[in-house]
Amino acid sequence: MDTSKVYLNLKASRTPGPQRASPPCLPPDACQCPRSHRWALKLSCAGLILLLLTLIGMSVLVRVLIQKPSIEKCSVCIQENITKKADSPAKLSCSRDWLLHRDKCIHFSQDSHIWKRGLADCATKGATFLLIRDQEELSFIKDSANAKGTTFWLGLYYTLRDKKWKWVNGSTLSSHGLQITGEAKKDSCAAVSKNKVFSDACASHNMWICQKEPKLVSETVCNDS
Ligand SMILES: *[C@@H]1O[C@H](CO)[C@@H](O)[C@H](O)[C@H]1NC(C)=O
Ligand SMILES: *[C@@H]1O[C@H](CO)[C@@H](O)[C@H](O)[C@H]1NC(C)=O
Repeated sequence: MDTSKVYLNLKASRTPGPQRASPPCLPPDACQCPRSHRWALKLSCAGLILLLLTLIGMSVLVRVLIQKPSIEKCSVCIQENITKKADSPAKLSCSRDWLLHRDKCIHFSQDSHIWKRGLADCATKGATFLLIRDQEELSFIKDSANAKGTTFWLGLYYTLRDKKWKWVNGSTLSSHGLQITGEAKKDSCAAVSKNKVFSDACASHNMWICQKEPKLVSETVCNDS
C-alpha cells in the first residue's frame, strides 16, 4: 500500500514535473542549437578576419624590413661608385689650359693683377679661386709656384671686422689649417710662393689660381643619366 502510494506519488510528481518544465524549456533548447552554431560561425569568421589582418600586417612589416636595408645598400653602392669615379683619374678630364690634380681642375693665370681681378677672372671661367683643402694640395701648389718662379693669389682674404682669414666659399680658415706668415691687416689677401703662404696687400699684383670640377668622360663604365 505504502509502496504503491509512493510509486503513484512519484509518478504523479514525476510526470507533471517534466511536462511542466519541458514546454518552456524546449523552445529555447531548439533555439539554442542554431544560435550556438551562429555564434561559432561568427567567432570563426572573426578569427579568420583577424588572421587575415595579421597576415597583411606581417607582410607589410616584412616588406618594410626588406626594403630598408636594400635602400641603405643602394646608397652605399652609389657612394662607392662616386668614390670609385673620384679615385680613377682616367674618367676625369679638364679643358685645355687646365691641369687635373686629384679631383680638381686647376688653372694658373698668365698675367698678374690685384686679388679682386683674380676673383672676377675665375668667375668668368665658371670657376672659383683656389681653395686649399689639405697639406698635399698645398705642397703641390708650392711646387708649382716654385716651378713657375712666381707667387699666386689664393681664394683667401682677411676680414678686419671678424679679425679672421676667410675662404671665398664663406668658411673661416681653421686654426689648425694653413699657417699664414706676415701681418694680417685691412685689405690683406693670401698668396702662395714656393715656400710659404703669406699675407699680401690685396692691391698688389700677383698671378692667381682658379679651380673647378672636372668632367666625367668615360661612358663605358658608368652610364650617368
Ligand atoms: C655602380 O657601378 C656599377 C658599375 O661600375 C654598376 O653596375 C652599378 O649598378 C652601380 N651602382 C649604383 C648604385 O649606381
Ligand atoms: C671651403 O674651403 C675650405 C678650404 O678648402 C674647406 O676647408 C671648407 O670646408 C670649405 N667650406 C665649404 C662650405 O665648402
